Amino acid sequence: MRNIFIKKSTNEKRIFMIVTELFPTVSPSFSENDLYFLASKGQEVVGFAHLILLEDRVLFQGLGVKEGYRNKGIGGRLVDTVVNFSEKLCKNIYLKVKPTNVEALNLYAKKGFTIKKLRNSYILQRNLCT
Ligand SMILES: CC(C)(COP(=O)(O)OP(=O)(O)OC[C@H]1O[C@@H](n2cnc3c(N)ncnc32)[C@H](O)[C@@H]1OP(=O)(O)O)[C@@H](O)C(=O)NCCC(=O)NCCS
Repeated sequence: MRNIFIKKSTNEKRIFMIVTELFPTVSPSFSENDLYFLASKGQEVVGFAHLILLEDRVLFQGLGVKEGYRNKGIGGRLVDTVVNFSEKLCKNIYLKVKPTNVEALNLYAKKGFTIKKLRNSYILQRNLCT
């Protein structure tokens, strides 16, 4: 989709609004290890990616795109942004997905993540550094 810009943000109000709109039970954290990328169309925030930066790895803690903007490549661009960012840090990415979340599983598989199956969730990993 054209006119969508993705950039790092520290605007806690905007981050809080998009995260809680997409995940009403989640309360976003803003510690020094939390990092957010927001996807915006003009003034409207339409998606986000949340990372937690650990010493030896990046936890991909959250990803979401507003309903009316899905299936237009924005989620894919957010994942690409996270991969490029982590690659520069030379850190592998880890994340957890519910096995029922077909959209997310397809998206991560398409972006080169490998899946390890656990009982109630899948752990996905993208190796960027050995
Ligand atoms: C998962 C999510 C972020 C995808 O965002 P999106 O902007 O729609 O994704 P894209 O348009 O970039 O799609 C990329 C790929 O995802 C997969 N995908 C997206 N929507 C899908 C759907 N409805 N069914 C199956 N696969 C789907 C496809 O592989 C797609 O590639 P393709 O277009 O070549 O088929 C979005 O559906 C979302 O916000 N879901 C709710 C929150 C969530 O589940 N977050 C992930 C938690 S781990």
